[in-house]
Amino acid sequence: MADWQKSDWRTKPRVQMPDYLDDAELKAVEAKLASYPPLVFAGEARRLKAQLGAASRGEAFLLQGGDCAESFEQFTADGIRDTFKVMLQMAMVLTYGAKVPVVKVGRMAGQFAKPRSAPTETVEGVELPSYRGDIINELDFTPESRIPNPNKMLQAYTQAAATLNLLRAFSTGGYADVHQVHSWTLGFTEGEKATKYRDMANRISDTLDFMKAAGVTSDRLHSLQTVDFYTSHESLLLEYEEALTRLDSTSGKWLAGSGHMIWIGDRTRQPDGAHVEFARGVQNPIGLKCGPTTTADDLKVLMEKLNPENEAGRLTLIARFGAGSVGDHLPRLVKAVQEEGANVLWTCDPMHGNTIKSATGYKTRPFDSVLREVREFFGVHKAEGTIPGGVHFEMTGQDVTECTGGVRAVTEEDLSARYHTACDPRLNASQSLELAFLVAEELSDRDQAKAAAAV
Ligand code: PEP
Ligand code: CO
Repeated sequence: MADWQKSDWRTKPRVQMPDYLDDAELKAVEAKLASYPPLVFAGEARRLKAQLGAASRGEAFLLQGGDCAESFEQFTADGIRDTFKVMLQMAMVLTYGAKVPVVKVGRMAGQFAKPRSAPTETVEGVELPSYRGDIINELDFTPESRIPNPNKMLQAYTQAAATLNLLRAFSTGGYADVHQVHSWTLGFTEGEKATKYRDMANRISDTLDFMKAAGVTSDRLHSLQTVDFYTSHESLLLEYEEALTRLDSTSGKWLAGSGHMIWIGDRTRQPDGAHVEFARGVQNPIGLKCGPTTTADDLKVLMEKLNPENEAGRLTLIARFGAGSVGDHLPRLVKAVQEEGANVLWTCDPMHGNTIKSATGYKTRPFDSVLREVREFFGVHKAEGTIPGGVHFEMTGQDVTECTGGVRAVTEEDLSARYHTACDPRLNASQSLELAFLVAEELSDRDQAKAAAAV
């Protein structure tokens, strides 16, 4: 983009960003970050873009998932491994349903900055600035902890680099072994649903056995042992993003070097705002959250700004309306896309429209609402003749109790047992896998509809 500079966002209205107290300190951090290597490379972002383009045509399916907010304190190799592992298991189940490759993108290695619904938080009569993610301030409820500190950007960079290093090792090191299908359903012991999941797991397992017996040797099974795994985060803290943005000498285009894919949140998608200005100039695949207040006109302007060349895979629209509301909003946006002849990938975030406060005082999400929103999303696309191309979850490989429901029912009383999220409630490993089985059912429907259309 010839007329674009990575600092242009500074001339636009900004929301949801901290006001740092010490400008010299901020400038020093930005200079340091700008001298560090980028975390990802342009060729990787382009490969992901091509795969997302395939997903937009129904030739692949996007699985995007991970923490709501990565945490400095809960940063461990086991945590990264477990989330990675559950995502691979989910992808295997989804592949089985969709009969197309699943593109795996973590909310990882950079998902640190959080938009908040209110600038301050009041506890027992004390009002303090809100927590905005570990890259900005601290969760502790003290005045000092809530002061934005630019040096946290350096710690976030280091953690992102170490996370990506481990993910790259897991992706190529044979860790991506998917032959243990049986063990995935061990927790699903009772009831009709559990039987259905076990049946599907058995069929996946049989298929793998068959491939082995038919002489598909481990060499050929290589693609099941190494995987493409990409990173993504909300591009919220623009000082951090700008400092890691680099000119790619191969293409002559800018690249946000902080992660493969970045997205614009539901609170920062103002067409003339700083966040849209930043995202429009980098060549990475871009996500755009679409919520109940997204109008068809706004969407048209945003599609033109963010994807002027109408490139497939460039723009992913992440629908997040809430269960019971998808039918009120998604059809008008699907029509806006069709009217423009725009190439987009439609995915469903069934988390952010379904957050409630439990009777026990915890922020939670009922599994049934999450599931219902996914079904409504698939239903609207079926009715409109368009392609549901992916899902976006807040999840973890850990056995947390943050969302209620699921086969191993988490109750409101259980929430306090292992509620560890720094921000929004996540699906635990068992709930994530359960959702994958359910989405796989919807996808086999999509596959059958495609096959019928082809006859
Ligand atoms: C998020 O993805 O964590 C988030 C804040 O989402 P949204 O912008 O859709 O509310
Ligand atoms: Co969230």
